[in-house]
Order: sequence, then structure tokens, then C-alpha cells
Amino acid sequence: MCGIVAYIGNKPALPILIKGLRRLEYRGYDSAGVALMCDRKIERLRSVGKIENLEEKTKDSCLSGNIGIAHTRWATHGGVTEENAHPHFSTSGKLVIVHNGIIENYRELREKLKEKFEFKSETDTEVLVNLIESHYDGDLRLAVEKALLHVRGTYGLVAMHSDEPDKLVAARLGSPLVVGIDEDEFYIASDATPMLAYTKKVIFLEDGEVVEISNGKMETFNLKDESVTKCVEEIEWDDEQAEKQGYDHFMLKEIYDQPTVFEDAIRGRINMGDGTAHLGGLNMTDDEMRGIERIILIACGTASYAAMIGKYAFERLAGIPTEVDVASEFRYRDPIVNDKTLVFAISQSGETADTLAAVREAKRKGAFVRGVVNVVGSTIARETDGGSYIHAGPELAVASTKAYTNMVAIMTLYALQFGRLKRITPATGQRLIKALLEIPEKMNSILKQTDEIKKIAEKYKDSRDFMYLGRGINFPVALEGSLKLKEISYIHAEAYPAGEMKHGPIALLSPEFPVFALMTKNQLYEKTRSNIEEVRARDTKVILIANEGDENAKELADDVIYIPPTMELLEPLLNTIPLQIFAYHMAVLLEKDVDRPRNLAKSVTVE
Ligand code: G6P
Repeated sequence: MCGIVAYIGNKPALPILIKGLRRLEYRGYDSAGVALMCDRKIERLRSVGKIENLEEKTKDSCLSGNIGIAHTRWATHGGVTEENAHPHFSTSGKLVIVHNGIIENYRELREKLKEKFEFKSETDTEVLVNLIESHYDGDLRLAVEKALLHVRGTYGLVAMHSDEPDKLVAARLGSPLVVGIDEDEFYIASDATPMLAYTKKVIFLEDGEVVEISNGKMETFNLKDESVTKCVEEIEWDDEQAEKQGYDHFMLKEIYDQPTVFEDAIRGRINMGDGTAHLGGLNMTDDEMRGIERIILIACGTASYAAMIGKYAFERLAGIPTEVDVASEFRYRDPIVNDKTLVFAISQSGETADTLAAVREAKRKGAFVRGVVNVVGSTIARETDGGSYIHAGPELAVASTKAYTNMVAIMTLYALQFGRLKRITPATGQRLIKALLEIPEKMNSILKQTDEIKKIAEKYKDSRDFMYLGRGINFPVALEGSLKLKEISYIHAEAYPAGEMKHGPIALLSPEFPVFALMTKNQLYEKTRSNIEEVRARDTKVILIANEGDENAKELADDVIYIPPTMELLEPLLNTIPLQIFAYHMAVLLEKDVDRPRNLAKSVTVE
């Protein structure tokens, strides 16, 4: 994983590249670099750490030019050093590339190339750039095409050569690349966000495609050098949507976006009259839907917790046995999948390599495979045979918030659509829809409590361990709450089903090991309450999420966050929000880098 930006046009390239890299920082921020074409000479600057370090360096340089490539790195091969940062030159110093992905056979290639070429870094990318150079004969595109025929692995790459100073060549296999078109100016990037300020017209490169841009013209080819015709698509997100809009961090902005984007997710997809939902992208006939015997939800990270909530919805509303599989496990356990299985791949970025690999495996085995994805035109969106965009808008904080909420929303709608076809009455469907329509207002009332939640965070900011507890549909919520806390504040946090505490984890508890529990009024309320009492008896500090008006909660807890009640199936849409806000404030109080936590990246395109 890594982020790529490139520009070719009439404007000074450097500011466009630096701004673009900032947009892609979520893809990794171990090091960054830029290379510009300046009078038939390529100048390069690189720096370890975040983009701001690179930007600082460029201020003292005289880098200029209207063509350039840039990169933000998340290390895979080779440590975090300036030497390993991109762009990488070939041995002659005439060819330079940025690369996202992994060249699996780089050792083998390096062995073959090492007699003629000199290697200065430990990266697979330096092998790739020299491999291209070894095929160079005055035509950069042909050299790229020929070289890539020898490569095993994944790449999104952009190359320039000082003998062809008006040209950029880009190629894709497995790592996304988008080309933005603004008349005779072009932008290339790992996703569309770096170009939104300039153009909405894009083409998405497919695997095995190579694009050449030169003198205001763009042409696309396959690796056999045959011309390929591409459709220009229009992106809906505007640049402003991708900005912080006055919030201190993207994460806080995205938490606050939730009521609005939730409305975007369900708009036009529900039918109150029939008490059902209709997601057109499902692309299945009623008979095919009735024939589904099993659903498998595959995802990673936060998306996998959203999937666990989806399991409740599918089983309860549609009565279809549903499993959740972490994508990195799915394909290696030889999953039992057939043409009566429906697989949903759930992913914010639509690029997560593990999820994508699972999609391919499920397709190979003949399942119906559908995507629940945020980023439009992303690889998972294109490789699945249908599905739905979650319409959460650009999510830039590494820690996912609004995408999770909208994943839950979309899976609930799918479950309703299946449920109405298979077993639930219109009246039950209508009750669910009514409750869904009330969610944004209830979310807003929780968001109004941010200051109180911040005060609670102040009390607990020195705790080094946390236990999150929930039962039933609130167990995945507890998992998500604990993940948010550990991701951005680096506090150790575990999550358990509350009823499982007594079988071991309760031994951990002490006054220094607080418990954050979900005790909203659902069918497991009494059971959960008994579990909290067991915890309380161990002198542990307790923070509770409870429903408004629940006076018992005060007796059981040191701190209570009251939230509006809703139908049990929809509780995660509300109950998760205070946990997000709590984790956010803990991280801010501990002065952590909320939007770009250490060691993480938003879009993980390596397995
Ligand atoms: C990374 C991120 C997580 C995210 C996961 C899945 O690990 O740090 O926040 O939940 O990838 O990402 P996806 O884009 O597939 O939802």
C-alpha cells in the first residue's frame, strides 16, 4: 500500500503533487518523495516521515517543472529510510518511477539484473525501475509493457524518462490508479481525491492496462500494446467534502457526518408502503434470492465488526444462516461455498487486498458475490457482480467511523429486502423503516453530548487498560469501541461478550482496569445487568451506555452516557457513536495523531 500522485500539464506541478499527497496520506506515511521533470533533467526530493517533512524540504529547493510524480510510502520491502523512499531512479538516472504494490519475484529479477544495474535500496521498486530500463529503447510505454510481462505481483506505477520529457506512463495490476482529465491537463493518483479540486472527469484504469500521456493527449493500451478504449466517468464528491470543514480532525468531522450520510445511504432505497427495501445493485431475481441457503460476510477491521452486526440482521429478518469471516482467513480455510451462497464483501476503500482475494476465491467457487463499498469505482466495486455503495462520502481519518455506520445501514436494508421476500410481514418491515427514519435525529442528540463524553475521557485518560463489554448485537459494538480506542490512543483494550467475563477475563479486573459496557434496553438487558453487577463487585470503575430514563444505570456505574432507545437491530447505529467520541477525546487528551495513527494505513492493499 502506498499513495501515488502525478501531474502533467501547464501548471507548476509541485504544489499539486504535495497537496495530492496530503489527500493520500491515509494510504501510508512512513516516507514521501517527489520527482519533477525540469529541462530534460529529473530532480528528486525525498524525506522520511509525514508529507510535512517533505514539504519543508521542498521550500529550500529550487524544484520546478510542469510534469512530476510523487509518492507516500507504507513500508513493505525495506525499512523506513530515505534511501528506500520513492521515487526510485534507474541506474542511468534517466528513468524514475513511483510504485504501489509488491513485486513478488523481485529477488529473482534482481539476480538477473545485478550484473548490469546498481541497486541502492532494498526495495522491489528499484528492481522494477531497472527492469523497465533494461527494456528501454527510446519508447517508455513499450519498455513498461515489456517489463511488466516479466513481473509477478501487484503494481500501480507511474514512470517518466528524461529522454522523453513530455510524457508520463502509468500502469496498473492490482493497485488502483485513476486518471483525472481537465482538457489538456492530466492527474494520476491512487484514488480520485487528489484531483477533485481540478476536475471531476476520470477514467479508472483496469488491471493490465497502461496509459501514456503526452502533449495534452492520453492513450490507453494493454500489455500486448493493443489500444484500449476507456469511458470517462464523472465523480460526484466535491473537493470541499474532502476537507475538514472546520473540525480539528477528520475523525471528528466524520463522526459528525454520520446523521447526514446515514440519510444518504437509505435515501431512495426504502419503500414504506410495502415495508421493504430495494437495493437495485443486488442484481438477483426473486427466485435466486429465495434459493440462497447461506450468506457469508467477508471484511477486515472495522468493516468486519459491521459485518457481525449484519449477521444478526440477516438471521433475524431473513432467517438465512449467516457467517462472518475475516477476509484474511476466508480463502485459506477452503470455505464451503456454492451457487446457493451469497457472499457480501464489505469494505470502505474497496481496495483491501485480503477482502479482494476473498472475493476472487468466492467467485471462483461459484457463489453470488456482491460488494458493500464506499469508494466509487474501487476494485471490489468493479470485481463483484453487483452490490451497493454505502454513500458515506470521503472518509479520510484512518480510524473508520461513518463508513462503519453506513455499512450497518446497508446490510440492514439488504436483510429487510430478503426478509420481506422470505418471511416478515409488511407491518414488521414498516416498523423497521419507521425506526430507521428516526435514527438521524437520535444520532444528533448523541452528538450534542460530546462535551460530557469529553469530561468522562478526562477522568480516564491515565488508564492503560480497558475492558469493553456487550451482549448480543452489542458485542460487535464493544469490539468496535475497543478497536477505536487502541487504534488512535494506543491504550490496551479488550472486548468480550459480557456473559463470557466470568469464564476468565474477570480475573484481569481491578480499580485500574475500567470497564466500558453497553446496557441498552433490549432482550438481554437483565442478563447484561447481572454481568455488570459481577464486575462492579470487583471494585472496578464502570462507564455505561444506557437508555434515557434508566435509573438503575446510575447505581451500577461511575459514569453513564444516556442515549435514545431504538429497535434492538438498529442499536449499533446509535450505541457506537459515544464509543467513537470517547476514543477520539482520549487520543486528543493523550496528544496522539488522531487522523494518522502510528503503524496503520487506511487502505491496506497488501495481503
Ligand atoms: C485497515 C484500516 C481499518 C479498516 C480496514 C478495512 O486496517 O486501518 O480501519 O477497517 O483496513 O478497510 P476497508 O477499506 O476494507 O473497509
